[in-house]
Parts: sequence; structure tokens; C-alpha cells
Amino acid sequence: MTARRPVVAGNWKMHLDHVEAVHVLQELALRLRTVDHAALEVCVLPPFTDLRSASSVIEAERLDLVLGAQHASEHDPGPYTGEVGVGMLARLGVDVVLVGHSERRRLYAMDDATVARTAAAVLAAGLRPMVCVGELADERAEGATEAVLARQLDAAMAQVGAADPARLLIAYEPVWAIGTDTAATPEDAQAACAFLRARAAMTMGEGAMDLRILYGGSATEDNAASLVQGDDVDGLLVGGASLAAASFTAIVGAVADCYGRAGRSTRR
Ligand code: PGA
Repeated sequence: MTARRPVVAGNWKMHLDHVEAVHVLQELALRLRTVDHAALEVCVLPPFTDLRSASSVIEAERLDLVLGAQHASEHDPGPYTGEVGVGMLARLGVDVVLVGHSERRRLYAMDDATVARTAAAVLAAGLRPMVCVGELADERAEGATEAVLARQLDAAMAQVGAADPARLLIAYEPVWAIGTDTAATPEDAQAACAFLRARAAMTMGEGAMDLRILYGGSATEDNAASLVQGDDVDGLLVGGASLAAASFTAIVGAVADCYGRAGRSTRR
């Protein structure tokens, strides 16, 4: 088993066209040089139309950045108007694919079974799925958080539980915390990530210790360091604060400082 390398990922959602993406990435290239982020995996997830340009900038600037996509089709090439296949993403240099973000689940009726099949398709293409799970405000109020997380995770594990755990990423994103300026407390983030790890262990046993589980939802440069304090929180999925190079770099720096401290970079 290996130590878990923390991840900071920026989900741009439907923001920044390909010209703006190039500008942000070039600024990121300059700013990230001022931060020792070698202990982390840093990832950006631009819209589909930006991927080609983003991949060129990452290559030209030799940026230590992983390129991700926000969604992919579960299907092989075929008559699926408007969809993008995993093979197409792989050809563009994409390495990570967000699967089942709550906005896809809620606005585009992506159910647990589709999320699971998509995660399997991403793995089969040699890419890494970042499967998003998280409860709604009402579900939390009803005390159903763990039941929801268990249902969402179990569905995914049924399809990908036999995969190399180091190639799987899970993002715990409580829906009530997304884009609301109300992040979960570090204690709640840790509790949920620990629950997810224990649940994953039911399928993958000890391998669950290699699974990276991120927190997402209103992460900022101010709360980043505290959100990753928990032993089971392996980084952050950042939305709004990833759109500007300055704030994203500040988050990367805060998380890198945290894991750079003795014992943190190799914690299990
Ligand atoms: P937020 O979004 O950081 O803007 O809350 C996170 C996400 O949806 O991935």
C-alpha cells in the first residue's frame, strides 16, 4: 500500500471560455511556481470546449497540473447527441473525470446506476473517475446523511469496487454547502470522509486506505487548511474559488503547507 497523495481540484463548471481558460492557466503557471505543491496532485476541470487549449498550455508551460473533465458519457461512440465519450477525453490528455457531480444528478437526472456505469467507463478508458457523493439539506435535517452516502457509494462500488483503489477518487460534497458560502465544519467533513472510507472497506477491504476522499463545498483560501485537518480528508474539490488563479493558488498553498508538516504527507 502507498501513502495517499492529497488532491486539490478546481471545478470550473460552466465558466471561462477557452480564451479565458488560457489566460487563467498562464497566470496559474506563474503563481504556482511560488508554491511548493510537489506533495499534492493539483487538477483543473475546465468545460469541454477548453480542454484542447488547456492541454496545450499545460504541455507548453510544463505545468505540473492534471487535466480533468467535468462529465463523460457512459457509452461507447454512437448516436448520443451532445455527449462526449471517455475515449475522446483520453485523446485530449484528460486524466481525471468528475462523475455524478450533484449538479449533474439534480439538473440532468443522473441516477446512482448511471453514475456507477460512467465511473466504470472512465476506468476502462484508462482514466480516473472522481465520483461525487453528498446529501441534500433536507436529508441532513432528517438525519439521513449516512444512509444517502452509503447508497451513493455502494452503487458506485458495485461497478468499480474491484479497481485499483489508488485510481479511484471520491469527493464528498454536501449539496447544501455547494456555492453557498457555508462550508461543512472540518469535523463534519472528517466524519463523512471517515464514514465513506469505512463503507468502501466493506467492498475493497484494506484497499480503502489507499482511496483518496476529497471534501468539496464552499472551500476557500480562508477555510482550506482547516477543512483538510481530518485524517480521512485527502484534499479539496473547489468550485467558485478555483476560477481565479490567485484564489486557487492560495488554496493549493494552504493545503500544501498543511500536508507538508511532519507526518502529514505520508499519513495513512
Ligand atoms: P463551490 O463548488 O466550491 O463553489 O461550493 C464546489 C463544487 O461544486 O464542486
